[in-house]
Amino acid sequence: MVIKKKGLAILGSTGSIGTQTLDIVRSFPNNFKVIGLAANNNIACLKNQIEEFSPKSISFNPSSPNKHFLKHFSYSNILMEDMVKDPDVDIVIAATNGCSSLKPIIEAINSKKNIGLANKESIVIAGKLISQLAKKNDVNIYPLDSEPNAIWQCIKGEDSGVNKLILTASGGAVRNEKTNNYSNLTPEQVLNHPNWKMGGKITIDSSTMINKALEVAESHWLFNIGWEQIDVVMHPESIIHSMVEFDDGSIKAQLSHPDMRLPIQYALFEQKRQINPKLTRLDLTKINQLNFIKIEQQKYPCFDLALEFLKLNETWPAALCGIDETAVELFLKNKIKFNQIYTLIEKTLSTHKPKDNPNIHQIIDSYNWAKEEGYQLAKEL
Ligand SMILES: NC(=O)c1ccc[n+]([C@@H]2O[C@H](COP(=O)([O-])OP(=O)(O)OC[C@H]3O[C@@H](n4cnc5c(N)ncnc54)[C@H](OP(=O)(O)O)[C@@H]3O)[C@@H](O)[C@H]2O)c1
Repeated sequence: MVIKKKGLAILGSTGSIGTQTLDIVRSFPNNFKVIGLAANNNIACLKNQIEEFSPKSISFNPSSPNKHFLKHFSYSNILMEDMVKDPDVDIVIAATNGCSSLKPIIEAINSKKNIGLANKESIVIAGKLISQLAKKNDVNIYPLDSEPNAIWQCIKGEDSGVNKLILTASGGAVRNEKTNNYSNLTPEQVLNHPNWKMGGKITIDSSTMINKALEVAESHWLFNIGWEQIDVVMHPESIIHSMVEFDDGSIKAQLSHPDMRLPIQYALFEQKRQINPKLTRLDLTKINQLNFIKIEQQKYPCFDLALEFLKLNETWPAALCGIDETAVELFLKNKIKFNQIYTLIEKTLSTHKPKDNPNIHQIIDSYNWAKEEGYQLAKEL
């Protein structure tokens, strides 16, 4: 039997999620075909991907100094918004940073393409809009992020009776640090995540736990569940990727070796399980113990702060994501201290003027406003 290959547009193909998505394509060449690849600046990596996967279309930052490289391949540079509409695209993998995937996601949903969602910022800042649009167009949003993906696995086959979602958090690189040492932490120390290899922004967000607050919001929108029904527990081993508690008190958990390729594969195959020899299997006898710890508010003050603004809707989530982007960038450039990420976010959000029932443009404007405001306010810290 000939299987029709699913066409993929991979936004953020040169990043951590993008390259791991391509590794799944490499493992299953009879199931997937790369239709489009999009990146920002990493021409060297994109060039190798073009040579290996021969996509139909390419998108990259038009102001890149290396933009002429495309001539070598006879491609023209197209917008991600146009790439996703290609009739050969079945699934759009949204794996860029910040809100750069937002407009392409909306175009993709309007063109009735299913979405493999890694870029949590998009659903966090435009959750209502994306959910309504996906429903109207009968489009599926498959979570690639390991925590919502784990929940997705746990609720499969369960018609009702979900009492709460329990997201697990590793605690990032600072989990054994004293808070009075936060101002001395270098970017290299905070980038040294104990369990996961990820892009820089999400790795820092793991240590502030803003990443976990974003996942709470992501799960709220993806699973249409109340905020009060989502708990977070620290689980330093990152073996259980999340859990669901049902009405009868049963808890289902998804366990696996921490490797993003597993949730990506599960999403690409639309919840059908496949054998992939490249994925390491868990040996339970070698784990010894699994720990669950209450989050210490003092250690992760950004978690409560972020959650407070994410629950407000309007343009607050966009402003939060914008200022977090700037704060992380400034920390990585040694311009602010790790503990000043909190201060800068709080200071910037205190000056935000939210828009009621915002449209996509107002959402993006608020995100950009907070990013810019953050650079100014950081000078006063
Ligand atoms: N990494 C993980 O394990 C993980 C897990 C769950 C969720 N996520 C989420 O997935 C998203 C990507 O994370 P990541 O860790 O893969 O980040 P990353 O390694 O920094 O990669 C980001 C990718 O996006 C591209 N990009 C950035 N801005 C762009 C723009 N304006 N237009 C087109 N492409 C752009 C980058 O291109 P260049 O390489 O050319 O700069 C790169 O390909 C984030 O939202 C993150 O929260 C990641």
